[in-house]
Amino acid sequence: MNQKKKKIRAIVRKSERIAENIFSMELFTEEPLSVRPGQFVGLYPDGEDKLLLRPISICEYRKETGILRLVYRVQGGGTKEFSGWKEGKETAFLGILGNGYPVEEIAEKAGGETGSVLLFGGGIGIPPLLALARELSAKTKVTTVLGYKTEETFLLHEFEQYGPVFTATEDGSCGTKGTVLDAVRENGISGDVLCACGPTPMLRAVKHFAEGRDCYLSLEERMACGIGACLACVCKTTDIDAHSHVHNARVCVEGPVFAADRVEI
Ligand SMILES: Cc1cc2nc3c(=O)[nH]c(=O)nc-3n(C[C@H](O)[C@H](O)[C@H](O)COP(=O)(O)OP(=O)(O)OC[C@H]3O[C@@H](n4cnc5c(N)ncnc54)[C@H](O)[C@@H]3O)c2cc1C
Ligand code: FES
Repeated sequence: MNQKKKKIRAIVRKSERIAENIFSMELFTEEPLSVRPGQFVGLYPDGEDKLLLRPISICEYRKETGILRLVYRVQGGGTKEFSGWKEGKETAFLGILGNGYPVEEIAEKAGGETGSVLLFGGGIGIPPLLALARELSAKTKVTTVLGYKTEETFLLHEFEQYGPVFTATEDGSCGTKGTVLDAVRENGISGDVLCACGPTPMLRAVKHFAEGRDCYLSLEERMACGIGACLACVCKTTDIDAHSHVHNARVCVEGPVFAADRVEI
């Protein structure tokens, strides 16, 4: 898992709009990768900002085909440029970055086949949970709760192959009106271990809801180098970091996935 971080050459195999402002891009790379759900790559635009990587989570990776799938929201200049990339476009990404979810540990803490894991995804935090749902569903029961703004959902049906899926939307047009936790209360959903990826208010609410249960959160911070050198991405931790000797951790290296009781959010 400790593969060297380097630029990896890739070719765009497919790029499509899957919801308003949301795109799915498949990159082919000849290099066999070792990827954990929750890890990410640094993708570079060709335009003005080409030195700054854009951290994008790996939605899926299939070693058999060499296809790495990214699902992203058009946010600013970089992601706008990616959305215009066509099949055949050559690029390179920095990878594989971050720690990812400890799948074996999560399944074991959940109690294996007789236990259950509850996944919470909000907005653009949803894509990395797809690979997590796939891997966990081979070891334990998986229930997923996805939060969107409107009924224009994405990846929803892909999650359904791994277990029950519930949705919450801000405007109530699909599933429960409100947050992912409103959906949990409305449907009486439970789980032995919780995993979440999404906006900070959602992560904070899930951490509170976990109440003593094991809980893993994937944090999002602005990044510059992606490899632990610039300290642009530090978050506050409850313990002292072995690298910096302060109550900090670098989200790009020690994260983005943390045990909820290890971080202050
Ligand atoms: C670990 C991690 C995983 C992520 N995974 C995804 C994903 O799977 N799908 C997705 O749509 N988005 C994801 N993001 C957010 C994504 O990185 C930003 O939306 C993207 O960098 C915006 O770039 P831009 O040039 O379009 O926007 P701009 O706002 O023009 O970006 C300007 C600069 O700020 C940085 N920046 C802006 N917003 C963010 C942000 N939210 N997080 C980190 N850096 C930011 C950019 O990288 C760039 O260097 C992830 C962020 C992190 C930290
Ligand atoms: S982005 Fe530079 S240390 Fe994390």
